[in-house]
Amino acid sequence: MKNLEILIKSRRSIRKFKNFEVEEEKITKILELGRWASSGLNNQPWRFCVLRAKEKDKISKFTSYENIITESNVCICVFMDSKACYDRTKDLLAVGACIQNMLLTAENLNLGTCWLGEILKNKEKINELLNIDKSRYELVAVIAVGYKDESPVSKREELDKLILR
Ligand SMILES: Cc1cc2nc3c(=O)[nH]c(=O)nc-3n(C[C@H](O)[C@H](O)[C@H](O)COP(=O)(O)O)c2cc1C
Repeated sequence: MKNLEILIKSRRSIRKFKNFEVEEEKITKILELGRWASSGLNNQPWRFCVLRAKEKDKISKFTSYENIITESNVCICVFMDSKACYDRTKDLLAVGACIQNMLLTAENLNLGTCWLGEILKNKEKINELLNIDKSRYELVAVIAVGYKDESPVSKREELDKLILR
């Protein structure tokens, strides 16, 4: 178990992956800790669909970040269930909290992830491809997962620039 600060600061978006299988137990652990995120009224609006192999590669055509999907080993599609929702902003924030839990869990398991949002321009097509009811489940993100094959750096604004008063 990594120290929390090290874990948070060492997570990076990974866009190059090794051609290794990600163990099923690790994916289960990522989903398991995702579902322990906070949500308004504890409504837990997140739903998941895990894609591997050919099925995973089929969704790559819906984003200009095609290579990230094809190079990854697993993609987790994260949906929001409208039947569980009560306030769009709060429900989306809850799904975001769930996603961050998943990214940090993956990092703790030495897996790389990339949160993909650009693909949402085609979210309804992904529902159709996966045969998931688009009138009920809205795609919020796709998370590409795999063993890291790069160590990118990233930067952040200085804290004093972020504090308004
Ligand atoms: C809502 C959201 C959407 C994103 N969409 C994409 C994407 O479509 N493609 C991509 O390569 N990275 C995407 N990212 C990753 C960001 O580019 C990345 O988190 C940011 O540049 C900071 O880098 P870091 O994650 O390594 O700290 C997205 C991140 C978020 C939170």
